[in-house]
Amino acid sequence: MSIKIGMIGAGGIAQNHVKALARIENARIATVFDINPEQAAKVANATGATIATSAERLLDDKEIDAVLICSPQFARGQLEEIAAGNNLHLLVEKPLGLNMEDVTRKGRAIRESGVINSTGYCLRYLDTVQMAKQYLHGKQVHLVQVHRFGTRHPAKWWNQLDLSGGFLVDAVTHQVDLVRYLVSEFNEVYANFGRNTILQESPDSTIYDGGALSFTLANGAVGTLTESCVSPYYNGSEIKIFGPDFYLSLRANGTQITIIDNDQNITKITKMDAYYEQDKSFVEAIVSGDSTHVLSNYEDASKTLVVTLAANQSFIERKSMSLIETTYG
Ligand SMILES: NC(=O)c1ccc[n+]([C@@H]2O[C@H](COP(=O)([O-])OP(=O)(O)OC[C@H]3O[C@@H](n4cnc5c(N)ncnc54)[C@H](O)[C@@H]3O)[C@@H](O)[C@H]2O)c1
Repeated sequence: MSIKIGMIGAGGIAQNHVKALARIENARIATVFDINPEQAAKVANATGATIATSAERLLDDKEIDAVLICSPQFARGQLEEIAAGNNLHLLVEKPLGLNMEDVTRKGRAIRESGVINSTGYCLRYLDTVQMAKQYLHGKQVHLVQVHRFGTRHPAKWWNQLDLSGGFLVDAVTHQVDLVRYLVSEFNEVYANFGRNTILQESPDSTIYDGGALSFTLANGAVGTLTESCVSPYYNGSEIKIFGPDFYLSLRANGTQITIIDNDQNITKITKMDAYYEQDKSFVEAIVSGDSTHVLSNYEDASKTLVVTLAANQSFIERKSMSLIETTYG
C-alpha cells in the first residue's frame, strides 16, 4: 500500500519532510500547495508532485490519503478541521496554533473523525530521548533547568509576536515538550521577557529577544527556562534533570544525552534523523491503523502549546499562571 500525501506550505520545514519521505518506500508527496508558487514548484520538482491551486482544493483531492500541514501557525485557518472532515490523516507542524480555543476545537474535530494524527514534536523519536524516557521512569525528580539560545528565523512572519508567538512558542516549544514528555505536566508558569537588543537591531519586529521562566511541575519538581533568539556567539540547548540519585542532561536538541549516577557516567550522541523517524511512524500508523508509535498526537501537542501561551500571558499580566485547571478539549 502506497500512501499519497498532500503538503500545505513548502518552506523550510517542508524540505525536511521532503528528504524524510524520500527515504520512506511506501509513501510519496503527491500534491503540494504554497501561496508562493516558487516554493511549491521546488517541492514539485523534487518529488514529482502536482501543484494544487489552493489548500482547499488540495484537501478535496480524493486521490490523497493524508496531509502534512507545514504552513506557519498563523496561516492554517480551518485546514485541520477540513482535513479531518474529509477523512484525511494529518501531521501538523508545531506549534499547533496561537489560540487555545481554535486548537481545542480543531483537536475535538480530529478526535471525533478518528483519523491518524501526528505533530511536529520530532525530538521525541530520538533514541537519546527514548533512553532518557526509559531511565527516568519511576525516578524522583526535584529540579529541571532548561536553556535554548539561537538566532532569529529570517522570515518576516516569525519576527511578529502575533504571527509566530515568539521564540518560546515557536522553537523552545520543543524543550517545553520534552520536559512534559520526560518529567511531568506543568502546574504553574511565571515568565519575564525582554526586547533590549531587538529594539535596536530590528525595531519593526515585535518578538522578545530573551525570556526567563520559572515553573512548577505536577510531580512537585521546580524548574527554570531561559532562552534567547539573539545569541550569535552561542547556539545550543540543554535540559538538565536532577534527582537525589542521578543527573541526566539532554543537549543539542536532545541529540546528546549524559547520565551520571552511582553506577555510570555515560554520554551518547545519536545519529538518528528525527524527521525521518517521525514521518515513518506516521506513515506506518496509516498503513497499520495502529497509532501506538505516533509519539505526539494533536491532543498531546496542544498541552505543550498551553504552557508556552500561558508563559506569554504571564508576562502580559505580570502574574504566575496556573495550568492545573486547564482542560484540553
Ligand atoms: N518540527 C520542527 O522542528 C520545525 C522546524 C522549523 C519550523 N517548524 C514549523 O513549521 C512551520 C513553518 O515554518 P518554516 O520554517 O517552514 O517557515 P518558512 O517561512 O520557511 O516557510 C513557510 C512556508 O509557508 C508558506 N505559506 C505561508 N502562508 C501560507 C498559507 N496560508 N498557505 C500555504 N502556504 C503558506 C510560505 O509561502 C512559505 O513557503 C512553522 O509552524 C514552524 O514552527 C517546525
